[in-house]
Amino acid sequence: MPAYSVVGRSLAIPLVLTSLMASAADLQRISPGTSQFRRPVAIARLDEATGVVANRCGTLSLVDLVKWTVVAEYKFGGQLTDVAVSRGLILVTDTKRSRLSVIRISRAGATVLSELPMPTYPLTVQVAPDEKSCTVGSRWARTLTMVTLENGPAIVDTIHLGFGAGEQLYLPDGSRMLVADAFTGRLAVVNTATRDVEHIHDFGAHNIRGLALSNDGQTLLISHQILNDAALPRRSDIIWGVMIDNMLRTANLDDILEGKSGAIYSGQTINVGYAGQGAGDPDSLFIDQTGRAVIALAGVNEVSIGAPFSRAFQRIGVGHRPIDLLPISEGRFVVVNELSDSLTLIDMTKNPAGDAASKDKSIRDGSQDGVESAADVLPAKPVATSPTDNEEYKKRHADKAGKKYNYSATASTYGSSYQGTDIYTSHLSLGPTPELGPAERGEQLFFSARLSHASWFSCHSCHVDGHTNGGQSDTFGDDTEGAPKRVLSLLGVGETGPWGWNGKKSTLSKQIHQSAASTMRGKGLTDKAATDIAAFLKTLQPPPPCQPATTPADKALVKDGRRLFESLSCTDCHTGTVLTSADVYDVGLVDERGLRKFNPPSLRGVGYRENLFHDKRASNLEEVFTKFDHQLDRKLSATELKSLLRYLRSL
Ligand code: HEC
Ligand code: HEC
Repeated sequence: MPAYSVVGRSLAIPLVLTSLMASAADLQRISPGTSQFRRPVAIARLDEATGVVANRCGTLSLVDLVKWTVVAEYKFGGQLTDVAVSRGLILVTDTKRSRLSVIRISRAGATVLSELPMPTYPLTVQVAPDEKSCTVGSRWARTLTMVTLENGPAIVDTIHLGFGAGEQLYLPDGSRMLVADAFTGRLAVVNTATRDVEHIHDFGAHNIRGLALSNDGQTLLISHQILNDAALPRRSDIIWGVMIDNMLRTANLDDILEGKSGAIYSGQTINVGYAGQGAGDPDSLFIDQTGRAVIALAGVNEVSIGAPFSRAFQRIGVGHRPIDLLPISEGRFVVVNELSDSLTLIDMTKNPAGDAASKDKSIRDGSQDGVESAADVLPAKPVATSPTDNEEYKKRHADKAGKKYNYSATASTYGSSYQGTDIYTSHLSLGPTPELGPAERGEQLFFSARLSHASWFSCHSCHVDGHTNGGQSDTFGDDTEGAPKRVLSLLGVGETGPWGWNGKKSTLSKQIHQSAASTMRGKGLTDKAATDIAAFLKTLQPPPPCQPATTPADKALVKDGRRLFESLSCTDCHTGTVLTSADVYDVGLVDERGLRKFNPPSLRGVGYRENLFHDKRASNLEEVFTKFDHQLDRKLSATELKSLLRYLRSL
């Protein structure tokens, strides 16, 4: 028993136990010795002393936050993405079975009380401040589902956002909520009473993974990344965060709620990394009682703790891929480490486990083969953090991205390190894990920013969760400079060779080596590491059909569109189930360096894409045919265009 106790003897108080519904299904308890990859993705607080962790593998772990032990694990099935608690009941989202489940767990057992079908790929669940309702964000259905929790859960409404729903944040009065784009840079303001999307702020960002309010409730804080499409992957640019920036942005909340133009730029942009030491993939975020910003740095296996009211950060090593945070009392919080099947307790008040045990060496710290460690890239001179450097940083940013992202309107500063507080960590394994196989090793590498020079970004920074951030980048991937290309989705990429827009990579491993060498600019990869990443990429399934046909009339329209697709010979180049082919073709589009022949992108999930062609020159699917007459030798009639578009959107 550690020599500290924060919540006193509340452990002795049993959890609320009410009689189970007749139809309720009990969950099987898993024996503590069971070896499996759990992949914890989210944690919620069940009561003072208990946390519940949703594991992607389909189990729920119950953790005693005082004794710092795993109390029980229950098999639920499916693929869990998020967990929240309302009045002692647990809400979990499951993408495999597309549902929201309500579960009661006590130390006596776990029971599923009810389940609600949800739109495709429920990713996040958030409980309203009055705990009478919750909202579920669906990534592929691109919806926000409002669910009442009174008298058993029921769907009240489904709001179409037009973008994949990710992070959510309720205002304290519950009147409105903010929903962030799961892939690119949009943030919607939703009125929870009228259920209207009141405003959508769109800024040149992506990977919005953390939303929080300042303690006075007036400022919104957002953790996200920016891909600068004008930057080149040169070590000298990467080291300053010019190519991909890891940011904490502040904005005036009232301006955001009112939908003022430029509201998102009304505050400051604070760079979480420092020169030579990037903060790859900022993720979950909260503000503690003293005003410290705590940010999980998912790509570098660290947590960044900001000094109160300052831009200085202290960084603490945790487990692999920290993606959720749970504050438990002043100065203490829990970190969920997805890819090391563990939790980390961070204590800024005292040493939770005594000096000897304060670091658990068994944790996988991501220092794999061929991966650059922070020490390899730190400049020989100490990192300067004077205002002069800040000016230089600002200038570089303004030059490269000023127009597009309006940096000039904001004060962008660059984080500095501080060593203000003694911070103690204690790791907790959620259970035994088997030896990592190639795909699991590849997954760790894919999400590791240590692959890039100075740890600024991972593969996931551009290929968000294997998909795309919707951006464009000069990756040197086609061996030319000055011809940035749209970031391709890697969902289903195992079947769509050859790779690269120019179709020059005959194997995935070759493409991966190229990405590591010319885009990441780290130490490069060993062959084994590249094969591992290829094994991981092959596990990525294509996205579900964008708008499957529903009514008989709709089905007939899709069928007409398919017939037209064949009669117009689209199938010459977009063939089979993968809807691409192995060759390169000149379709009349030339890039800035004179390249004319491109490998057709797979049309699976084409309806999700907002900008099309290699340089995003078509701003929507319709323009591919109306503005660019793509491979058409005649104008399509309005009816033909309608059916062709309907078919493409059904893919
Ligand atoms: C800075 C953004 C960025 C990062 C980081 C990045 N990529 Fe890419 N990736 C791109 C772009 C842009 C393309 C298209 C480039 C081209 O073909 O010219 C691409 C193409 C690819 C392709 C080819 C896809 C296809 O369908 O042909 C694969 C595979 C790939 N990347 C894997 C990776 C891996 C693995 C990593 C990490 C080692 C990585 N990428 C890191 C931007 C990025
Ligand atoms: C001669 C081969 C060829 C034929 C025929 C062809 N395409 Fe393409 N298609 C391509 C290539 C190559 C690209 C990528 C061009 C670029 O981005 O520079 C492309 C791109 C597209 C895109 C944009 C995809 C994206 O992600 O940017 C769509 C949509 C598309 N084709 C649909 C069609 C349809 C519908 C037809 C029939 C009318 C058709 N294509 C006929 C080769 C072909």
